[in-house]
Amino acid sequence: MSFQDNTTESTGPSTDSVVEPTAGVGGTETTPEADTIIESRDLNVYYNDAQALRDVSMEIPEKRVTALIGPSGCGKSTYLRCLNRMNDLIDAARVEGEVRFRGKNVYDDDVDPVALRRKIGMVFQEPNPFPKSIYDNVAYGLRVQGKDDDLDEKVETALRRAALWEEVKDQLDSSGLDLSGGQQQRLCIARAIAADPEVVLMDEPASALDPIATSKIEDLIDDLASEYTVVIVTHNMQQAARISDQTAVFLTGGELVEFDDTSKIFENPDDQRVEDYITGKFG
Ligand SMILES: Nc1ncnc2c1ncn2[C@@H]1O[C@H](COP(=O)(O)OP(=O)(O)OP(=O)(O)O)[C@@H](O)[C@H]1O
Ligand SMILES: [Mg+2]
Repeated sequence: MSFQDNTTESTGPSTDSVVEPTAGVGGTETTPEADTIIESRDLNVYYNDAQALRDVSMEIPEKRVTALIGPSGCGKSTYLRCLNRMNDLIDAARVEGEVRFRGKNVYDDDVDPVALRRKIGMVFQEPNPFPKSIYDNVAYGLRVQGKDDDLDEKVETALRRAALWEEVKDQLDSSGLDLSGGQQQRLCIARAIAADPEVVLMDEPASALDPIATSKIEDLIDDLASEYTVVIVTHNMQQAARISDQTAVFLTGGELVEFDDTSKIFENPDDQRVEDYITGKFG
């Protein structure tokens, strides 16, 4: 059940029905307030009869890093998967409420989930390159979409953006599986951004990596935020504090307890339960 497998499915005639950026967005001036790119409204998710998310409403700012934190089982991965409809692939999952991407509810009938996942890509906890060459891993999605003109250039650009190019430029024909874990994860990030998404979802992307590889991924995420919106789940509080602009704290029961600037969440949260969680009193 991976996004990559899913991209191989036929998309049918309706592509990109969700997804054209609003005219006028993307000006070069920097404003302190970011536009909202994704908004969930009263999102409830059930796995059979068990509720995993409860009335989660949240506005995710564009071209920022938003961290999702909270104890195991509180629904972070579930929330992330709602944003690009990965939960569609889980039979037991039922989603109520709305997720608006640039104002359009991604659960509307006319939204093609495959096209949506090109705009909102995903990187998983365990690096999962295809058993193909480094080059073919990055080129894969572009070929599937028939965007294979200037492929060499596009592959190089994606590998550069993923801070991997210098390490692999002389071995593009070697298997992606022969890279180190940290390199494999950057390869997966290159693969995700090669398709030119607007949002990159990351579910604990560094938790399987050593500290040096983790620090490279963190630097990379910081760089990516100049061009992409990043939503990242992490169990590592210091990581959330280091790399994110906004932090959402979920607590057991699938409730979003507090969502604010990361500095506010870590220095002076409104909710006592958030304070207790962050200072390690529970979770
Ligand atoms: N495929 C599934 N089928 C049934 N229940 C599920 C499924 N996936 C998640 N759940 C349940 O939904 C709740 C939220 O799970 P989720 O994986 O979203 O939590 P999480 O915050 O990501 O946890 P972790 O930090 O351990 O990854 C849990 O109670 C979990 O058991
Ligand atoms: Mg999870």
